[in-house]
Amino acid sequence: MALFGQPKNNKQETGFSVTPWEVTGQVDYERLVKEFGTELITDELLQRLVSLAGGSNHMLRRRIFFSHRDLNHVLDDYEAGRGFFLYTGRGPSGPMHIGHIIPFHFTKWLQERFSVNLYIQITDDEKFLEEKRGLTLEETRRWSYENILDIIAVGFDPDRTFIFQDVDFIGNMYPLAIRVARKVNFSWVRAVFGFDHQTNIGMIFYPAIQIVPALFERRRCLIPAAIDQDPYWRVQRDIAESLGYYKTAAIHSKFLMPLSGPEGKMSASQRETAIFLSDDAKSVRKKIWQAFSGGQPTVELHRKYGGNPDVDVAYQWLYYFFEEDDRKVEQLRQDYMSGKLLSGEMKEILIEKVVKFLERHQEAREEAREKYHLFTREGKLAQQMWETKFGLET
Ligand code: TYM
Repeated sequence: MALFGQPKNNKQETGFSVTPWEVTGQVDYERLVKEFGTELITDELLQRLVSLAGGSNHMLRRRIFFSHRDLNHVLDDYEAGRGFFLYTGRGPSGPMHIGHIIPFHFTKWLQERFSVNLYIQITDDEKFLEEKRGLTLEETRRWSYENILDIIAVGFDPDRTFIFQDVDFIGNMYPLAIRVARKVNFSWVRAVFGFDHQTNIGMIFYPAIQIVPALFERRRCLIPAAIDQDPYWRVQRDIAESLGYYKTAAIHSKFLMPLSGPEGKMSASQRETAIFLSDDAKSVRKKIWQAFSGGQPTVELHRKYGGNPDVDVAYQWLYYFFEEDDRKVEQLRQDYMSGKLLSGEMKEILIEKVVKFLERHQEAREEAREKYHLFTREGKLAQQMWETKFGLET
């Protein structure tokens, strides 16, 4: 019984499908941009963003963040002194993997560069309502706490960041959520999200909840996330102005490849394809050694014909996030293609980077326990948020 997530792009035709719940096949991102109606980030827009940010970011330069909605208007607002705010989130269905934390690192970069407020929604409700996961509410709430520690470990500004769980904060959001919900009818969310007659009514209402934080301020919101979350922003943009708010802007990333190769996305529901933030050096090494590679079957053949970096997981991860230096990453690509660099050597380079990244992360996560209340209750922005009933303030 398909409860939700009936793919909105036709997999038979395209060979891939992207929904907020599932990614299958090898994604053709240019095609997806057309289907979703978003825009590719042009060189010109990138230059403008980098110059206003006062610095570059490797994920932008490499078009890992490759698509957007209204990013140009965000920059107009920033230049005109109106400012903007950031919003992103996490569905607490279990431990976080490396793919989940990367958008948070990019978000941190944006917050640092533009000194803006950031709202982080933890959807304990959504992951409970998604029946096929079989999680109790107690479980999604426990995972919320664990995931929030990972998110705090990224290093956001405690005075400008508010992290909230829906079930706790709903009293403040509810007036606005019902204003949103009254504007969105069933046939519309059915068309956008693929709901059907078996979908529980909690899931049908849920899009209103994910839309609300994009209306927390009366200025433009910018949402950094992978492109799978875009269907929500489409609905927000259709109704925001009629409620007196800005249409949200968004900046979309591609998916970090799973360990199994270029199909689908790294996903916690396929545990063996993911590296978790809690993994130790030994299991990182073991998993990366087993990862799909673009190399030839033997060293002789590899030296002769070279490898294919486009499908090589180790290279792709270095390119996606772990090697910030453009010259180094290009050298790796060249050496791999020429056969000079073997698949095992590429993997060793990645293992070292991932192990270092996780060591630092796990240390910061321990320190995050002390900071939990700052981000959720006691920080400047958090306090302000708990005092506001959204949708009743005007
Ligand atoms: P969730 O928990 O599925 O994903 C959290 C964030 O990680 C991104 N993501 C990935 N990015 C790169 N590579 C991957 N393999 C990968 N897998 C997931 C997601 O796009 C997301 O940015 N419903 C949401 C929670 C949410 C939210 C939001 C997310 C509520 N409000 C606002 C983004 C923005 C969810 O379940 O995300």
